[in-house]
Amino acid sequence: MSALEERSWAADDWSAPRAAIVRAEGLRKTYRAHGLELDALRAVNLSVARGEMVAVMGPSGCGKTTLLNCLAGLDTIDAGHVLIDGVDLASLSDARRADYRAQRMGFIFQNFNLLPVLSAAENVELPLLLLRVSAREARKRARAMLDAVGLSHRERHRPAELSGGQRQRVAIARALVNEPAIVWADEPTGNLDTEAADEVMELLTRLNRERRQTLVIVTHAPDISARAHRLIRMRDGRIVTPG
Ligand SMILES: Nc1ncnc2c1ncn2[C@@H]1O[C@H](COP(=O)(O)OP(=O)(O)OP(=O)(O)O)[C@@H](O)[C@H]1O
Ligand SMILES: [Mg+2]
Repeated sequence: MSALEERSWAADDWSAPRAAIVRAEGLRKTYRAHGLELDALRAVNLSVARGEMVAVMGPSGCGKTTLLNCLAGLDTIDAGHVLIDGVDLASLSDARRADYRAQRMGFIFQNFNLLPVLSAAENVELPLLLLRVSAREARKRARAMLDAVGLSHRERHRPAELSGGQRQRVAIARALVNEPAIVWADEPTGNLDTEAADEVMELLTRLNRERRQTLVIVTHAPDISARAHRLIRMRDGRIVTPG
C-alpha cells in the first residue's frame, strides 16, 4: 500500500481524494439572442466531491445560474462535458435525462416555485408521485420530511398561508424528499429576511452534514459561503478560484 493510500483523511478534509460526483470539463455556454452572442461560460472546469457543500459566488451576470443549469442538465451546453456520478447527461435522451434528474437531484430556487393550489404536504410529495411511489408511502415520507424541516404543524397550509422562510423550508423538504444524491440551490435565501435566511441556512447545513447530500449553492451572502466546505468564485463566465 502506498503512503497516499495509508494516509487517513479527517471526515471534513475536502482535499481528500474522494470520488467526484460532479465533474465538468471545458464547459462552454453561449447564449444567442437578439443578434447578440454572449459567452456565459468560458471553459469551466469543476469537480465536486460526494457530500461536499460548495458555495458559488460572483457578481450579477457572471454566469452562476447558467453554471447550475448546465451542470444539472436543465440547459444545453455548447462544448465540454458534464459527468454526474460518471454519467454524461448530454448523452441521454430528454426523457432519460428528466428521469435521472427526478431520481438523483433536488432543486431549490430563490422564489420557492411551490404550487399555490397544493398544501405543504402535497407540494412535498409531488416528486415522489412523479417517481410512481404509492400515494400512501409518498404522504408518509412527505410528513417525515416536513417534520425534519420543522413544519409538521403546517402540512395542510398552502404556500400563501406560510411565511417566506416557511415556504422555503417546504421547498427544501420537496427538494430532499426523494433523497437525491445532489441538491442544487440558486440563491435559496435571496427572498428572505436575515432571520429566516439564517434558519434556512442552518437547516441546509445540517441536512448536508447529516444526510451527506452534495450541495451546490449559489449565493450573494458571505455568511453562507462561510458555512460551505469550499467557495468557488466566478467572474465573467470563468471560475477564478480553483474549482
Ligand atoms: N436565456 C438567456 N438568453 C440570453 N442571455 C442570457 C440568458 N440567460 C442569461 N443570459 C446572460 O448570461 C449571463 C449570465 O447570466 P446568469 O443568469 O447565469 O448570471 P448570474 O451570475 O446568475 O447573475 P445573478 O447573480 O444576477 O443571478 C448574463 O449576462 C445574462 O444576461
Ligand atoms: Mg442567477
